[in-house]
Amino acid sequence: MSQGNVVQLNAFGPLYVEGEVEIVDAAGNVVRRESSVWLCRCGNSKDKPFCDSSHIAAGFPDDGIFIPKGGDAPGATGPLRITPVPNGPLLLEGPVAIYGADGALGYRGEKCRLCRCGASIDKPFCDSSHRRIGFTA
Ligand code: FES
Repeated sequence: MSQGNVVQLNAFGPLYVEGEVEIVDAAGNVVRRESSVWLCRCGNSKDKPFCDSSHIAAGFPDDGIFIPKGGDAPGATGPLRITPVPNGPLLLEGPVAIYGADGALGYRGEKCRLCRCGASIDKPFCDSSHRRIGFTA
């Protein structure tokens, strides 16, 4: 993996995030600081936003490979703030590079929304399918 904040998709599994990671609540407060964390993207974890391996029993079908998508110009350095939006996606703010399960760089930028309900057809990004399926978290 490269330096800086990195999100690595795992085939049929969670997001692995490494770097200067801040988990932020809906009010904007930092509730956890980590150098690495596993985050649920199948929608089934009982410990959201963290992975609890529920993707295995759920048979989460996403292979974690996606067509590269442009992002904003990358910032220098700094924390990656991750806000689990209530009943919605993970909002990422801060410099980040996102790699597919095939190791390919798929996105580099400073703001994006990643699906955590498991239903987006534009994975790993949110396409608002969480509303259609009534995702609650
Ligand atoms: S969180 Fe899955 S589509 Fe928005």
